[in-house]
Amino acid sequence: MEFLDLKTQQKRIRKPLENRIKKIFDHGSYIMGPEVFELEEKLANFCGVKHAISCSSGTDALLIPLMAWGVGPGDAVFTTPFTYVATAEVISILGATPVFVDVYESTFNIDCNKLETEIKKVIKQGKLKPKAIIPVDLFGLPARYRILDKIAKKYDLKVLEDAAQSFGGSIRDRKVGIFGDVAATSFYPAKPLGCYGDGGAIFTNDDNLAEECKAIRIHGTKTDRYNSERVGLNGRFDSIQAAVVLEKLTIFDDELRMRNIIDANYRKYLNNAQCHPEGYKSSHALFSIVLGSSKARNELIERLSSNNIPSVIYYKYPIHLMKAFSYLEYSKGDLPVSESLSESIVSLPMHPYLSEQDIEFIIKTIRKTI
Ligand SMILES: Cc1ncc(COP(=O)(O)O)c(C=O)c1O
Repeated sequence: MEFLDLKTQQKRIRKPLENRIKKIFDHGSYIMGPEVFELEEKLANFCGVKHAISCSSGTDALLIPLMAWGVGPGDAVFTTPFTYVATAEVISILGATPVFVDVYESTFNIDCNKLETEIKKVIKQGKLKPKAIIPVDLFGLPARYRILDKIAKKYDLKVLEDAAQSFGGSIRDRKVGIFGDVAATSFYPAKPLGCYGDGGAIFTNDDNLAEECKAIRIHGTKTDRYNSERVGLNGRFDSIQAAVVLEKLTIFDDELRMRNIIDANYRKYLNNAQCHPEGYKSSHALFSIVLGSSKARNELIERLSSNNIPSVIYYKYPIHLMKAFSYLEYSKGDLPVSESLSESIVSLPMHPYLSEQDIEFIIKTIRKTI
């Protein structure tokens, strides 16, 4: 059994994908070729935003809008420590300060009450200027954007949705990509909509921001490729990777439907999974359950492994306790929900091609443990 099955998926798209790649070999425009622009149009239509700007990775998709806003030293950017390190890394790279906010025990996404408390604290201390919030749609589940937008308005903050895992998700039929001021997704192969390398995309309705992001992705250039108007980076996207995403997009809705069925099948037997509030649709990037303790989790992982069932811990180390972020001087106990989740969570196999028998076998194995 695979944790993630990309081979079965590839069989569905192999022929048209080979045709697309052959066309790229013929036209020879390997970077930012026509496939890239075709993809951007289709992505924008998919989620109903004005601008989809593809780029070199999900990390760069987060970094580029922050650069466009001029986020830097002296700025506070609020996010959660229970996410992939890239979310906080982009803040630090720019010399701004990540301010970590704990997550809800039920959804694992940013806790809006605690967010407001942290914002007030930063304002009272007067050392940093609150600048932006990066809510993370963990495991594919969108964060609470209605409340987040209200908080952002109240304190004049920007919202950058970390949608690396959640492209395809929605809240009451509003699709991921339209929340906040801008959203960033990843096409890393393991994501619900992945390519066969690194890639990402930025989504926004803001024309000026879109123009700046497009410039930053190509070394800060606008009209003249050899005359930078601002400092940017190499954030371009490859035509072959765009072709992969284009073909995967043709089966994406069907795969989301299949992931939804897998999720529902798991939930028939398990009541300790991430909570999905009513009206919220996850893209089901990962299916994660919380055990009572780290001992119970380790026992479960061992039993799964001895039955050839793969599992992965997302995330074993909350970011505020990582060595790389020790300069922020957080201590154990500062963000208790994230810390407790890191010790007790585990992700089970999740992909559209998991059979009912596979799930039954996983459930049987779990039941012998807990
Ligand atoms: C929540 C989150 N943010 C950001 C990223 C970074 O994306 P990439 O690996 O494409 O740079 C990831 C990818 O794993 C992620 O899961």
